Amino acid sequence: MAAKTSGKAGNAAVDESPAGMVKIYIMGKQYAVPEGLTIQKALEYAGLTLLRGCGCRGGFCGACGTVYRTEGDYKLKVALACQTVVEDGMYLTQIPFYPANKAIYDIEKLTPSLESLVQAYPEFMRCVQCNTCRKVCPQDIEVMQYMATAMRGDIAKTADLSFDCIMCGLCASRCPADTVQYYVGILARRLYGKYVAPEAKHLADRLGELDTGKFDKEIDDMIKMKQEDLRKLYDTRDIEPAEETTETEAVSATEAGTDK
Ligand code: FES
Repeated sequence: MAAKTSGKAGNAAVDESPAGMVKIYIMGKQYAVPEGLTIQKALEYAGLTLLRGCGCRGGFCGACGTVYRTEGDYKLKVALACQTVVEDGMYLTQIPFYPANKAIYDIEKLTPSLESLVQAYPEFMRCVQCNTCRKVCPQDIEVMQYMATAMRGDIAKTADLSFDCIMCGLCASRCPADTVQYYVGILARRLYGKYVAPEAKHLADRLGELDTGKFDKEIDDMIKMKQEDLRKLYDTRDIEPAEETTETEAVSATEAGTDK
């Protein structure tokens, strides 16, 4: 397959994609990029410098929300640019920031209740349970479900169901009720962490030790250390031994095609 034009930067218009390349449209402009690249790498191959909309590159920070459509398909789809491979004929744009309503609250003055959620985000009660949020979530989180548990004031369940949210904002971008699911979720998790989850005794003990200054000298010494000595200290630190994988676990991991 021959391209009308080509170029290392992959930014020349083509009618057909050369072998090993795919044709994509970034903000309406056509580029030829190597197949197999993630959207994020394709953006860079096309010569763009990612100043916003790019953070961890590992599917954790939620900075790279992308909306796209493929040629011949009316359906708008969403993805994380760092996790999704380009397809031939992909029209895409990034929405790394979504100007959703963000409440400022003092967690000390809230209670783990429906009232606290409503006080911060009254609009979330407008949820019509259309499930659009669930359909667009790149993490496959049960977003509509946790909105339902939030509307019932079930803080623990909302915290649990929203736990994997990476705050990409794609759910809010498609919500017909203008609710901000991910902020409701994080508020529920904060309320759960502060008021509902049982206190970890070992953590409380260690915080107490820190308060009494037990480690002040050690910390001071570390602050003064040279980087290589610090590195040595880190490499030889006491750590718990890795859990041994049993033979049965190893077999089931192999059968499942995972490297657990
Ligand atoms: S860059 Fe962090 S999730 Fe994509």
